[in-house]
Order: sequence, then C-alpha cells, then structure tokens
Amino acid sequence: MGRLDGKVVVLSAAGQGIGRASAVAMAKEGAKVYATDINGELLKTLNGVQGIETHVLDVTKTDDVKAFLSKIDRIDVLFNCAGFVFNGTILDTEEKDWDFSFDLNVKSMWRTCKEVIPKMKKQGGGSIINMSSVASSKKGAPNRCVYGATKAAVIGLTKAMAADFVTDQIRCNCVCPGTVDTPSLQDRINALPDPTQARKDFESRQRIGRFCTAEEVANLVVFLASDEHVSAATSAGDILSTQHGRQSTSPYRLSRSTFGHNGPKPGHEDRPEGLPRTPKSLTSLSPNSNMKR
Ligand SMILES: NC(=O)c1ccc[n+]([C@@H]2O[C@H](COP(=O)([O-])OP(=O)(O)OC[C@H]3O[C@@H](n4cnc5c(N)ncnc54)[C@H](O)[C@@H]3O)[C@@H](O)[C@H]2O)c1
Repeated sequence: MGRLDGKVVVLSAAGQGIGRASAVAMAKEGAKVYATDINGELLKTLNGVQGIETHVLDVTKTDDVKAFLSKIDRIDVLFNCAGFVFNGTILDTEEKDWDFSFDLNVKSMWRTCKEVIPKMKKQGGGSIINMSSVASSKKGAPNRCVYGATKAAVIGLTKAMAADFVTDQIRCNCVCPGTVDTPSLQDRINALPDPTQARKDFESRQRIGRFCTAEEVANLVVFLASDEHVSAATSAGDILSTQHGRQSTSPYRLSRSTFGHNGPKPGHEDRPEGLPRTPKSLTSLSPNSNMKR
C-alpha cells in the first residue's frame, strides 16, 4: 500500500530537479500525478513512469492555467514548485527582473490556488505545498535580493491561505530548502568565475558537508501530501526546512570565488539564522550585558 494511494496530485516544474523528483516520489507512493512544466522536452524524461501524466504548462499564463485545471475534477494535492533564481543585489535588479520573479515565483501560486481551492473545498479538503527557500524571510542570502523577497512572499501567502482555509480541511504549507543539487544549481555554479572552487565553497557551507538532494526534498513533499501529515502535530501554515544544518549556531564562511566580484568581502560572515552579527563596537560588552541578541 502506498502512502498516497488514491490521491490526485498536480505539480509544476516537474521537468527537472525537485519537481521531477517529487513527481516520481508521489507516483511511487500510489498517487495519480499530473506533472506539468513549461519545457516539453524535459517532461519527456517522465514518459513511461507509472502513475504520471505529463502536460506542458506555463504557470505565468493565467488563461492556460485556468483551462488546464478546469479539466481535472478532483485535486487532492497541489505542489507549486516553479521558481526562478535571479542573481544580484537590488542594484543589479531591473524592473523587468523584479516583475518576472514575482510573476513566476509568487503570482503563479495565486493563479493555481484560485482554481484549486474551490475544488478542494467542495471535495472536503486537500493539501497545498508551496516552494519557498531558506533564502527568504528565514535568512538573507547575498545576491538573492528579488529571489529572497519572492520566497518571503511565498511564506506570507502560505500562512494567509492556511489561516483562511484550515477550517475547510485544506492544509497549506511550504518547504524551505537550503542548497539543493539540481541542474539549475549547477548552471548557476557554472556561471561563476571559478566553478570548481565555487562548488567546493557551496558544499563546504553545508554544515553536513554536502548538498541536499532533490530526493530528500521530495520526501518532505510526500509527507506534506500524505494523511500522515494530517494527524501529525503540525497541520497547516508550517514552514518546513531542509537546511542541512544551516540553522545551527556555528558560524561559517563563504569565499569570494563563490560570488565573484559581487561577493562578500573577505572575512564576511554568513551567519546562520538567529545568530546576529555582533557589531565591533559591542564586542567589548561584558557577558552580563542585558543587550538582547
Ligand atoms: N535548487 C536549489 O538549491 C533550491 C533551493 C531552495 C528552493 N528552490 C526552489 O525549488 C524550485 C525548483 O528548483 P530546482 O532547482 O529543483 O529546479 P530547476 O530550476 O532546476 O528547474 C525548474 C523547472 O521549472 C520549469 N519552469 C521554468 N519556468 C516555468 C514556468 N513559467 N512554468 C512552468 N514551469 C517552469 C523549468 O522548465 C524547470 O524544469 C524553485 O522554486 C526554486 O526556487 C531550489
């Protein structure tokens, strides 16, 4: 017996990376999976996987999203996975980059949820899983200005929807992965001045010494999609992370080769969440200082 037997799943960005791994994992657990992506070639790699039906869908096209979802009567699980990483500070970000990032990373969720929530209400419940990131309201990451803003918005959207629909038995949660080894991560590394060193730097900043895998994030997605999650202590509005130690309290450092010329200055301390930088001017404060940390 599978953990998702009888469930109907719709997800975006199923062509590669976390979306693809999640489509495969959910089908393996017995779900009927509608796997969508803008890229039909990538979707072909799912041909023949039992339980998966693929559809080309651009989640930035409101009419296409409406038309596609109107054809599916019952939807138990919606996984909004599509997203794009724009690299840069606010100074590098043009209006078009801002608008595109919010359109794909956040507004696409508004498009799908508007269509799916009425179905879930009618059928007596469901699970919505939104893709956020550690680079969000959880943590500021260098050169992730608009990306981090979109992923923080995803957390806000998720919590708002959870509050609105929890009494309709609709759970709405999001996942916040740290760095995951996916094709787009490798593309971002390849674009850096020294990809080999950059990969080492990225890996070494993972406190467990390696990247998270797409399959590990997919395991979390399966849990949120399943009825195990209904009975778990956590039920809606949760922000679940796969950070591989990034929330631990030991500081770690990034080298400039990771980020090229826009990178942090030597000695920059990429502090784990919850560990504020102690300004130089305060380092002489006595341990008994009542300064809030
Ligand atoms: N890889 C990471 O380190 C990481 C970490 C945290 C969060 N995330 C988030 O996880 C999600 C997936 O990232 P990934 O790295 O696994 O995938 P990826 O970037 O390798 O692939 C993204 C997929 O989305 C599809 N896509 C792009 N635009 C689309 C559109 N308009 N409509 C439908 N599909 C579209 C692409 O064709 C591709 O198959 C993203 O939202 C990303 O922000 C990734």
